[in-house]
Amino acid sequence: MCGIIGYVGDQSALDISLQGLRRLEYRGYDSSGIAVVGAGELRTARRAGKLANLEKLLAENPEPDPMPGTTGMGHTRWATHGGPTDVNAHPHIDCTGAIAVIHNGIIENFALLRAELEAGGHELASETDTEVVAHLLEVELAGDPDPDPDPAAVSHPLAAALRRVCRRLAGAFTLVVVHRDFPEVVVGARRNSPLVVGLGEGESFLASDVSAFIAHTREAMEIGQDQVVEARRDGVIVTDFEGRPVQNRRYHVDWDASAAEKGGYPYFMLKEINEQPTALADTLRGRLSPQGAIVLDEERLSAQDFRDVDKVFIVACGTAYHAGLIAKYAIEHWTRLPCEVEMASEFRYRDPVLDRSTLVIAISQSGETLDTLMAVKHAREQKARVLAICNTNGSTIPRESDAVLYTHCGPEVGVASTKTFLGQVAACLLVGLYLAQVRGVLYGDEVAAYVERLQRMPELVERTLGRLEPIRELARELVDAKAVLFLGRHVGYPVALEGALKLKELAYMHAEGFPAGELKHGPIALIEPGLPVLVVVPSPRGRANLHDKIVSNIQEVRARGARTIVIAEDGDVAVEPYADHVIRVPETTSLFAPLVTTLPLQVFACELALARGLDVDQPRNLAKSVTVE
Ligand code: F6R
Repeated sequence: MCGIIGYVGDQSALDISLQGLRRLEYRGYDSSGIAVVGAGELRTARRAGKLANLEKLLAENPEPDPMPGTTGMGHTRWATHGGPTDVNAHPHIDCTGAIAVIHNGIIENFALLRAELEAGGHELASETDTEVVAHLLEVELAGDPDPDPDPAAVSHPLAAALRRVCRRLAGAFTLVVVHRDFPEVVVGARRNSPLVVGLGEGESFLASDVSAFIAHTREAMEIGQDQVVEARRDGVIVTDFEGRPVQNRRYHVDWDASAAEKGGYPYFMLKEINEQPTALADTLRGRLSPQGAIVLDEERLSAQDFRDVDKVFIVACGTAYHAGLIAKYAIEHWTRLPCEVEMASEFRYRDPVLDRSTLVIAISQSGETLDTLMAVKHAREQKARVLAICNTNGSTIPRESDAVLYTHCGPEVGVASTKTFLGQVAACLLVGLYLAQVRGVLYGDEVAAYVERLQRMPELVERTLGRLEPIRELARELVDAKAVLFLGRHVGYPVALEGALKLKELAYMHAEGFPAGELKHGPIALIEPGLPVLVVVPSPRGRANLHDKIVSNIQEVRARGARTIVIAEDGDVAVEPYADHVIRVPETTSLFAPLVTTLPLQVFACELALARGLDVDQPRNLAKSVTVE
């Protein structure tokens, strides 16, 4: 939700902000805006709609440099309070026109603060929660100096004022602020929303994620919960909201700018679908020993901690939740531990039974999803141990967890998750096998056999991607379909849910995923002549009878006129008499099948959306990282 970039250095702040916003637009694209401080002036520009609208506005300005200055910031918005209009676009300014603020998150007590400001004579122009911050800063800067308890803290007045304002705010926020009279500094703050620092040579950056400044520096610093950062050309000073200095972790970003570019593809999503063999191989790399054991190096829980577990909970949202559903089948089968999977947004509102021997696995690509973060906090309050599975180094969820297993999928820019889903499934399989290994429920040679088969999966993913032309053709043929159903059984059921989610979010079509056996209990009433039904068929070599059962389910829908599109493994001829179309995937171990059966569904949704003329990287109403509850 909302992308933020702040800059102080020697380059044009307008250019840096625009470049950063191009990389951050996937976070929200309802409106965008820029503020630049230079030559004693604060200039702002903002426009509703995609970034292209703001670029057009700037291009129409007859001045050679419409926003001169080397200190500034940019914002791309996913609207919460106030519609996506020019007036509600960030930055927001105070009554004096000296202070500009951009914000990601929701300020929950803004109505109260707004009333107080209006009673004090402030005029607020927008419907946003953000604007109150600009006016509160105006009040603070006009008032007494900072009564910081720590006299050793040497702070810029703007940072001190922001600290005082933050102490009054409730909710989630990343804030970045510039001031007309202080071109030497850009100030930021965060609570429950992401903010990272980029440390360049003679320049500093503040951003929602590293992709915004990766073209300029790969040296980054985390900003922790309830901290304020003062960025200057020669470095940064970080304090907590009380003004006490804090030392944060610095890290080197191990991917470069080209990883965040389209690399010749018309859409990031197409690139990311094709990157899946590498994403999977990178996630597995170093975690499978030559002796056939699982090695989880970066987690901070001991083998004994994993032995002490008597129950597993998985919390996640959307696509990550589907990865969690797959994990349940593997974890329960391999470890015999009970495993529950819960949508993170529901978890803490229903009193889940947790204690110190519960392992909670929080899955999140961004590491910033607020629903998942809140579930993590709730689990830790109940003394459960939390293992994060995450794709974003330095993000909040890993920091708030006891341990982390990173998926090394590289940056994912397309709003719909593809390669990181595969990384999440692989990471879950690793955790399941590791639990079985350390608890001794699988023999060493059994683990080794799985390891050997996991190592072959990137190649099978590559082979699957190479044979998806038939599903592309089919997607183009079905461009006018009104709805599509997805059926699956066993691990094919979460794959069906994922296929339906992809189609909804990309092609804006009604799509539902069901366990195929559940169909006869109601959803079969939806079947009408010509309705496309995609069926993810388990291997005939898998669970006894399961394959026969799904073949019967295919017959049931076909008998009622559905057009059956069957995803089946090579050599499965039993499905052919009942399938209008068969899409073949290579043979795999039953529990690893989602790593290949998901691919045709991703490609189906992507191609159908493209055939409808839609932007698959930035579907309507969505944002990549959901930092509001
Ligand atoms: C769907 C999609 C979303 C995310 C969900 C969780 O394609 O991308 O459903 O999976 O918002 O996001 P993360 O994994 O960042 O917590």
